[in-house]
Amino acid sequence: QQQPILIQGAMPVEVAALREALEGREDQTLHGFSFSTGTVEGHPLVVSETQIGTLNAALSTAVGIGAYAPRAVINQGLAGAHVGELAVGDLVVGTATVALHGMQSPARAAGEGCAPFDWVFDPRSVPIPSDEALLRHFTQVPWPHGRAVAGVLGSGDLFSREIDRIRWMQEKKGELCEEMESVGSYECCRRFGVPCIGVRVISNNELTGEPFTDLVAGDLQRWLLGQIACL
Ligand code: 5AD
Repeated sequence: QQQPILIQGAMPVEVAALREALEGREDQTLHGFSFSTGTVEGHPLVVSETQIGTLNAALSTAVGIGAYAPRAVINQGLAGAHVGELAVGDLVVGTATVALHGMQSPARAAGEGCAPFDWVFDPRSVPIPSDEALLRHFTQVPWPHGRAVAGVLGSGDLFSREIDRIRWMQEKKGELCEEMESVGSYECCRRFGVPCIGVRVISNNELTGEPFTDLVAGDLQRWLLGQIACL
């Protein structure tokens, strides 16, 4: 039998539509992570709720690869825009993911305060590229809900709402958006030799003042479901 595709989402709302689409669905909890298996148009699929954060993403990816031996991992869900051109409902197909955490500060004595703009990113932390074949595929499929762009996903254990800091990170790392999982999934897949890509829909844009909504999560899941047969 064909190896499955494993599709991840962090929060229940980011996997609900995927789960509901599974034929012959079976739910399993492994090491505290929930997985649902089944088929879509005859093709085996594993839906994984990773929970929020890069550590959960890395752990659940390792558990999922060990249990299901997927032929590819798709990390998908919501993300905040880090450029003014992206609006809620737009799609970012990841060309790579880059860590937005992992920083060192210069020394400051007691009473000298804290200056985050003086912190430096670990120079050893470099972008991890997406699988080329998956990237080629996802950049060819039209996205009917807004703009679609390909670029670098920013990923870390943070939810940034300070415009000056968002601009500062964006200048250094070049990311189009911020989310909290893909870097964990990519790093795990790189080590296991499993093809991986991140695909995100914009749920908020601090730069333009668009507030967070999870209503767009279903659009991305349905878009991906339409492509299972071609992956
Ligand atoms: N910053 C960080 N994570 C975000 N998410 C959506 N918008 C943002 C943002 N601006 C995603 C994360 C996490 C959840 C809070 O939604 O990936 O899973």
